[in-house]
Amino acid sequence: MKPSATKTKTEVEEQELESSKKKRPHPTLLLIEDDEDLRQQMKWALSSNYELREAVDRASAVEIVQNEPVHFAILDLGLPPHANDAIEGLAALEDMLSVNRDLKIIMATGNTDRRHALKAIELGAYDFLEKPVDLEVLKVVLQRADYILRLERENRSLRKQEDQTDFEAIIGTSTPMQKVFEVVRRVAKSDISVLVIGESGTGKELIARALHHQSDRARGPFIAINCGAIPENLLESELFGHEKGAFTGAHARRKGRIESADKGTLFLDEIGELPTALQVKLLRVLQERCIERVGGRESIEIDSRIVAATNIDLEKAMAQGQFREDLYYRLNTVTIPIPPLKDRGGDIILLAERFLQRIADGAGKKFAGFTKEAKISIERYHWPGNVRELENRIKRAVAMADGNRITPEDVQLDSPTVGYSGYTLKNAREAVERELIQRTLEKTGGNITRAASELGVSRPTLHELITRYSLR
Ligand SMILES: Nc1ncnc2c1ncn2[C@@H]1O[C@H](COP(=O)(O)OP(=O)(O)OP(=O)(O)O)[C@@H](O)[C@H]1O
Ligand SMILES: [Mg+2]
Repeated sequence: MKPSATKTKTEVEEQELESSKKKRPHPTLLLIEDDEDLRQQMKWALSSNYELREAVDRASAVEIVQNEPVHFAILDLGLPPHANDAIEGLAALEDMLSVNRDLKIIMATGNTDRRHALKAIELGAYDFLEKPVDLEVLKVVLQRADYILRLERENRSLRKQEDQTDFEAIIGTSTPMQKVFEVVRRVAKSDISVLVIGESGTGKELIARALHHQSDRARGPFIAINCGAIPENLLESELFGHEKGAFTGAHARRKGRIESADKGTLFLDEIGELPTALQVKLLRVLQERCIERVGGRESIEIDSRIVAATNIDLEKAMAQGQFREDLYYRLNTVTIPIPPLKDRGGDIILLAERFLQRIADGAGKKFAGFTKEAKISIERYHWPGNVRELENRIKRAVAMADGNRITPEDVQLDSPTVGYSGYTLKNAREAVERELIQRTLEKTGGNITRAASELGVSRPTLHELITRYSLR
């Protein structure tokens, strides 16, 4: 009977973290030994370097492992009620490991049961020592186990960081983007073909890269090819490679992108632009998982994951006979639609702020962020060029802006007053007046003389307007 794991691994880890914050002085070592004298001896030898726990049988040992973070255990192979064979000891080993896989268990074995000792190692014990246990040897074994435990932990935390950075470059806290991340997480590990669709500049390539980084192919290559950017007559050899002399100018054999993506991910960008003749050839690759180079006869096996992307409506292209239906269904085992930027709510400002920070840093400039108006304009704009357009507008703003904060003009957007509907002429005029004054004051740092001159009014008039709109 196996104990139910009352705590999950991460809970144990968290608990461990908590207790290490409280400066746990020593790692915890559990002594599982029914012989009172032996236990006492080990306690004397080890108590100055370990937080000790004691158990006399399987049940009490498992209970301790379930309820606290134990790092090491010394386990007597012959435990009651079967003190003379290994059944109970091996069962305790398995039970404890099923609760805490990282527990380093050192078996204490009688000198006759080497066979059982090996069995224990097979089941996941860290090491074994023959009885009577030499306490000095035990100390060294424990030190080494401690070292390994630390390495494992470090490794895990590095891997966790890696996992987090998989989406780190992709900003998106809005619900539609979280849904995208969820699908990516779900399908990344499998080899199924994924079609990423979305308007231009929505981040399709970033998602394709995330799929690669989260897959088991992450160590392999990520090879991208933009089917729309390469002249039709070169595209075939670019994709499939060629043999020497395959055509005029083919001076040497060359690998194509498909072949280069072996053991990795092949990203076919703008797949909708792939000429019909090549669509047939690509379909063959997907069906048969092998290619032939241009001018070659050898069939080369291909093991790569295919991610395709497009910003055109492939269903429409199919209806018009421009895209093959059979290829379409091969490519879109899973389709990930990327929402347009205008549908991502709070992400828009979040992205704008991150871009501003990053681009300004790169340019050695410093800004205090966006003006209120700029934020409103950014939020209201419909962003036909999506994230790429936002990035470009901020690049331009960083280069051009002379104020402390980025204004709507800096990002070349209309001030939010424009487009107010349902206003009478009078309150529209007032609203514009108010915003313009406020912005100019912000820009001049409250300098009335400069603001008045910029606004083309006298200082007394500006004072009067400031009072009327309670701008101070
Ligand atoms: N969510 C995001 N967070 C951060 N940067 C993003 C995000 N989405 C896109 N970008 C950035 O915007 C730019 C455009 O992204 P990407 O090239 O992936 O878009 P795309 O959909 O492939 O565009 P196109 O259809 O024009 O090829 C890139 O510089 C990318 O780094
Ligand atoms: Mg792209």
